Amino acid sequence: MDPKNLVSENTTLPPPPSDGWFPVDLRCLDPEGTSPCDLYRRTRENEHVLFARKMLPMDRQVRNRLVGNGLYYLFIQDADSPLYFDYLKNTLTSVVRDPNTTSKKKAEAVHASCQEILRWAFEEPRAPFIRKAQEAILPTVQLIVSDDSATKHLVRLTAYDHSTYTHSTNVGIFAVALAKIFYGAGALKQVESLGAGFFLHDLGKCRVPIEILNKPGKLTEQEWRVIRRHPEDGQTMLQESGILTEEARVIAVQHHEKADGNGYPHGLKGDDIHPYARICRLADVYEALTADRSYHNRHSTFDAFKIMHKQFDTDLDRKLFELFLQLFTA
Ligand SMILES: [Fe+2]
Repeated sequence: MDPKNLVSENTTLPPPPSDGWFPVDLRCLDPEGTSPCDLYRRTRENEHVLFARKMLPMDRQVRNRLVGNGLYYLFIQDADSPLYFDYLKNTLTSVVRDPNTTSKKKAEAVHASCQEILRWAFEEPRAPFIRKAQEAILPTVQLIVSDDSATKHLVRLTAYDHSTYTHSTNVGIFAVALAKIFYGAGALKQVESLGAGFFLHDLGKCRVPIEILNKPGKLTEQEWRVIRRHPEDGQTMLQESGILTEEARVIAVQHHEKADGNGYPHGLKGDDIHPYARICRLADVYEALTADRSYHNRHSTFDAFKIMHKQFDTDLDRKLFELFLQLFTA
């Protein structure tokens, strides 16, 4: 396979799933390979026309023409989703292990596929999808733990792409990379749990109405109460999916706790907050400050660091922050 073809530079949003049809990102498919399942194009009349039959080579010219015209999404049927997840996981595993692929290309491939995986997990938060997502994220976690150069490239990629599912992808990347520095790559155990915890830390937001999540103005007290439920809802969803470990639990449920006890849901203080959760909190704050959001313009990395610097006593862990800076030095 040719990882050059796995790219991640655009921000066009995928169409929503409908009537058992799910959009898949054409750019996460290897144009030199075979189709993982039957792939369809959607016409203007909302009909689905076969694009590539399962296990047969894809038409590279047609594929490139679609991408060239900004048509990035094909469709698969609901029943084929396990095949598609397995394909993403296997593709990522082979890219990550390929000695002839550069760290930069590996980083681009995993960044694109991670967003695709998380998009599915958030749009269809059913237990089988969440379990598949955890498996498919694993090659990314292993890449960050084992390849410092790829980690640097991933950190750079987080600065360029702010599409819908990028927040969770980026927080996952920052958090695994920071955990690697904090604990040391050799001491970092339970990478499956860390992947589930860091990349799916906000899974509980699936249960927050979209109008509240995207509300540009100030939230009411009632709306805040709904938002504050997402750490515990996330824990419940991981548990229902059968992938809740102690590591994933503390990350999901404690990632909004603050050093001074003013966080939620339990108002834990300082060292009572697990280091994994403090790592996730720091990555989350940085990502929120530097991402384009509907309600503010993004801060530069330098400005974000200045803002975070003022939050040591109330919110963030100073020692972790100093380690975090290492991710941004050449
Ligand atoms: Fe959150």
